[in-house]
Amino acid sequence: MIPFSPPRIDDRTVKAVEEALRSGWITTGPRTKEFEKRIAAYCGVKKAIALNSWTNACELVLRWYGVGPGDEVIVPAYTYCATANIVMHVGAKPVLVDVLDDFTMDPDAVRHAITPRTKCIIPVDIGGLPAQVNAIMRIAVEQCGLFTPKLNLRSAGRNPQMLLGRALVLSDAAHSFGAVIGGQKLGTQADITGFSFHAVKNLTTAEGGALAFNLPVPFDHEELYRHFNTMSLHGQSKDALAKTEPGAWRYDVAFPGWKCNMTDLQAAIGLVELDRYDNDTIPRRRAICARYDAAFKSDARFIAPTMKDATREGSYHLYMLRVAKATEEQRDAIITAIAKREVSVNVHFIPLPMLTFYREQGYRIAEFPRTYGNYCQEISLPVYYDLTDAQVDEVIAAVKAATSEVMGS
Ligand SMILES: Cc1ncc(COP(=O)(O)O)c(C=O)c1O
Repeated sequence: MIPFSPPRIDDRTVKAVEEALRSGWITTGPRTKEFEKRIAAYCGVKKAIALNSWTNACELVLRWYGVGPGDEVIVPAYTYCATANIVMHVGAKPVLVDVLDDFTMDPDAVRHAITPRTKCIIPVDIGGLPAQVNAIMRIAVEQCGLFTPKLNLRSAGRNPQMLLGRALVLSDAAHSFGAVIGGQKLGTQADITGFSFHAVKNLTTAEGGALAFNLPVPFDHEELYRHFNTMSLHGQSKDALAKTEPGAWRYDVAFPGWKCNMTDLQAAIGLVELDRYDNDTIPRRRAICARYDAAFKSDARFIAPTMKDATREGSYHLYMLRVAKATEEQRDAIITAIAKREVSVNVHFIPLPMLTFYREQGYRIAEFPRTYGNYCQEISLPVYYDLTDAQVDEVIAAVKAATSEVMGS
């Protein structure tokens, strides 16, 4: 069976984790701090923080920005549940919008969805292709007249809603570490960009995530970093590493924070992954996707995904193929027929309005026709470093044979 997305674990990864284990420091420490500096340099931002998942990292962002009951957050209907779940966790309302043909959030739909209650917009870089983040930033700025900051909000001594004066743009870049917009790596486009380093992601730390901060003047990035660090450690004034300084045992708790720090074991994996990301991981993933492109772009039964266009280059995270004329039932039958041929594929994602919880909240898939149309035809093919060209050809053969079996041509 060809698996869908196993992580790349080799002797180098094992050695790095072993060294961390034997170093005597296994929780947040020097390796995590090094990983954060390397992520910030890679993304071209002043500061980045590494935490234990995208979900917890981005939930901290909403909490820091004071998003809560009565507020709205704009989210695409086509995404993983985490994007909307964090909005539910803070008691705000996800306002869903439809996507474009390339699966990313429709900026025009965002423009129409903004209200005086909108506190945040979360574009999603699905499959690794960046959403139209620059256009969405422009809309957030243009519509700042509608923005109504909470007056009594103080975070790290300042009111971030008053300082920014508009909806915060938090990019869900869970899939797109290393992707590019206008020649620049992701991180310098949205106000804050959130990455995931979950086991199936291009760059993994087993579980993990990071935030790249790109807020305008007068935000102080050192202060932001310290504040998020404190938020991630119960609101405690010193982390475990700082308390190891001689005599530095005393600490305080300024507010009841959360617990979502990254460990040095995770950072050890991340540092190895980062070292070989641009010169090895991405080129291999790009080559796999090019091989799929060559097979599917010339076959009218399929719609190949956008991996690159005039302004964007994705991270080659997923190959989101579509079967042009398939209904949802036919797509499901094709997946079963592919599985019979010993190939694992997936669907990214079941749209939010089709999940029980969100349906019960009153969201209706009929209001998001592009989301539903794309979802019905979508099949994600295996893309991972160790997938050989011969295996890619097996996947192609299985997909084509399964499609003929179900669609009759
Ligand atoms: C689009 C999207 N956003 C957010 C997440 C959540 O990431 P994490 O598992 O690191 O919390 C995922 C995870 O797969 C995702 O696909």
